[in-house]
Amino acid sequence: MKILVIGTGYVGTTTGLVFAEWGHHVTGIDIDPQKIEQLNNGRLHFYEKGLEELLKKHLSTGHITFSGNLEQAVKENDLIFICVGTPSLPDGRATCNS
Ligand SMILES: NC(=O)c1ccc[n+]([C@@H]2O[C@H](COP(=O)([O-])OP(=O)(O)OC[C@H]3O[C@@H](n4cnc5c(N)ncnc54)[C@H](O)[C@@H]3O)[C@@H](O)[C@H]2O)c1
Repeated sequence: MKILVIGTGYVGTTTGLVFAEWGHHVTGIDIDPQKIEQLNNGRLHFYEKGLEELLKKHLSTGHITFSGNLEQAVKENDLIFICVGTPSLPDGRATCNS
């Protein structure tokens, strides 16, 4: 399956790499171009045991790629996971709470 992950932070990158390890073809999208470049160069911006090795492995197998082109990626993928941050109020509550 072709899977799109929007937001390549802790959740999106980890989720995407697990899907890649399961044999899916994953595209990761982020608004931060530095993050995209770093990930495409095989470097994680956070530490999770074994995950950078998985990133390097699936950049090589072609099971994961990272891009900033949201419009194209939405058209090309079967399933979309939205993993962007949740904005919070000054007191830390999520904005969806009243
Ligand atoms: N990290 C956790 O343990 C955890 C646990 C439960 C739930 N969550 C939820 O999961 C979501 C993601 O958490 P995270 O820890 O990965 O956050 P994060 O801040 O590490 O990652 C979010 C990513 O989304 C990107 N982003 C923001 N707006 C975007 C947009 N419009 N288009 C594309 N990319 C965009 C950011 O640049 C960032 O890389 C949040 O809603 C959070 O509340 C996280």
